[in-house]
Amino acid sequence: MRMNRPTTPGDRAAHWNSVYDTKGEDGVSWYQSVPTVTLDLLDALRVRTSASIIDLGGGASVVVDHLLARDFTDVTVLDVSKVALEDAEARLGPASERVHWLHRDVFDWAPERRFDLWHDRAVFHFLIEEDEREAYLQVLRSGIAPGGRVVVATFDAHGPTHCSGLPVVRYGATELAQIFAPHFDLVDTRSEEHLTPAGLVQPFTWVVLSPSS
Ligand SMILES: C[S@@+](CC[C@H](N)C(=O)[O-])C[C@H]1O[C@@H](n2cnc3c(N)ncnc32)[C@H](O)[C@@H]1O
Repeated sequence: MRMNRPTTPGDRAAHWNSVYDTKGEDGVSWYQSVPTVTLDLLDALRVRTSASIIDLGGGASVVVDHLLARDFTDVTVLDVSKVALEDAEARLGPASERVHWLHRDVFDWAPERRFDLWHDRAVFHFLIEEDEREAYLQVLRSGIAPGGRVVVATFDAHGPTHCSGLPVVRYGATELAQIFAPHFDLVDTRSEEHLTPAGLVQPFTWVVLSPSS
């Protein structure tokens, strides 16, 4: 179902809370029980377990579970949806105390620190206006550590035009990296065919970027 695009932090929170309330953490189209590409990239990039990692718009994703299982010690999950964060915290139980939870809207957030790894799966592609992408880039630039790595995954050029009723921008790796230039260099790419809980295939583009020196 298509819906009015939420453009304020309050509207975005209401939209995403409603999605998670209605579908449940493992009923949303982007659910994955094992974040295969994320884990592959952590290995490929040789991210140390002491690295500071933020899952930006992590929602109720199990990425955080896998990071904790791999003994990463400095993990932050930021999301505008309180419902999603509470689902993830409840799932993790006592282990959730090892996570920094940030209930924030990325457009209403000034990072208090810089992260070694910025991970965004299926958030950036909702930014359909130029000024939204510029605002995101400003936040990213103030939140990424020198020498850090940025992982961004969006629907690819042949992916769906909408997600959870909202329009998205679809990218190939070159086009996606172009958005982040000249402040970031392209380090690596991946293609993924994500299988939704309903059995649909959604092609994703992944890029790894590093701040330009
Ligand atoms: C399609 S879901 C992807 C969730 C997660 N990254 C994953 O791969 O499972 C998009 C997520 O971004 C969050 N989100 C959307 N807009 C946001 C914003 N402006 N600030 C913070 N989080 C946002 C939503 O609440 C939702 O959890």
